[in-house]
Amino acid sequence: MQKKLSFDQPLYVLAPLAGYTDLPFRSVVKKFGADLTVSEMISSNALTHGSAKTLHMLEKSDNEDPYSVQIAGAEASVIKEAVEVLNEQSGIDIIDLNCGCPVPKIVGHGSGSSLLLNLPLMGEIIRTIKDTSNKSMTSVKIRLGYEKKNHIDIAKIVEDNGADFIAVHGRTRAGKFKAEVDYDAIREIKEAIKIPVIANGDIDSFEKAQWVLEHTGADGVMIGRGAVGAPWIFHQLKSGSTEIDRVLKHAIIMEHFDKMIDFYGPRGVSMFRKHTHTYSKGYQGASVLRDKVNRIDDVAQYRDVIDTFFLENEIVAR
Ligand SMILES: Cc1cc2nc3c(=O)[nH]c(=O)nc-3n(C[C@H](O)[C@H](O)[C@H](O)COP(=O)(O)O)c2cc1C
Repeated sequence: MQKKLSFDQPLYVLAPLAGYTDLPFRSVVKKFGADLTVSEMISSNALTHGSAKTLHMLEKSDNEDPYSVQIAGAEASVIKEAVEVLNEQSGIDIIDLNCGCPVPKIVGHGSGSSLLLNLPLMGEIIRTIKDTSNKSMTSVKIRLGYEKKNHIDIAKIVEDNGADFIAVHGRTRAGKFKAEVDYDAIREIKEAIKIPVIANGDIDSFEKAQWVLEHTGADGVMIGRGAVGAPWIFHQLKSGSTEIDRVLKHAIIMEHFDKMIDFYGPRGVSMFRKHTHTYSKGYQGASVLRDKVNRIDDVAQYRDVIDTFFLENEIVAR
């Protein structure tokens, strides 16, 4: 049975992060109370070719309920075909369209934030997803504009073409990931449309999440970078606690590592390096650990090194 999101309570959503929010990471985050998890961005072109690698990226963990798959594309006909491929896959509840990615490779193909420059095309693509999909919901993730803000026009096109909700990263494409997040603009979107709005950008604490929910009137918050190296952040965002027990942290890191190996096989080792780096921030001896793991390819040896490190070392800084 596909699940439809309820917006009765504020939602806490894990943002899609290419290279991070894969099945192993999402399954760990989910345990800490994320209400919705979204796949990494998947190209509609790749979906139409249906390679084993792409289908593997679509898999969800048993605890992801509901589960959203994010697609990117620039042509309604390709998007239609891609959605037809997703229609054959069970376990997906939501299809999300990426209208925010600023990366030149994506923008150059007319996808991601490029769609913000061509609102009629963006609308046609959203309508195509809505009309083709057999999933419960269609959503869209936007920025506030490309160079300049035209967030109200964008949001209205999203709503008018049948999206069930919208996630708003409160920066323009030009603002990349560093410009100040414009939460006022997110509030203006909330006031201008009727579909639920999820606020995104630089939310990394209980206080910030509460403030953003209140200030914007949004129906939920979406957290990306704040969850990297801290999948337990969802518990903290919801409960207000700031501590994470060292023994629990060790257990989570080991579970994450084991899931990476289950999912990717031995190449999970090299893929776990960036996670080892973020998890070890603030630990005594972190730089020695990073040097060491950069030279280990063997699964058992890698596991042994991080097992010992996270058990024996103290957190000395945040
Ligand atoms: C490494 C990285 C990968 C990202 N990948 C995606 C993606 O695949 N799809 C997407 O819509 N946004 C992507 N984003 C943007 C995030 O979802 C989010 O909108 C942005 O990071 C702001 O939220 P934050 O401050 O909570 O990280 C990515 C961001 C980063 C840093």
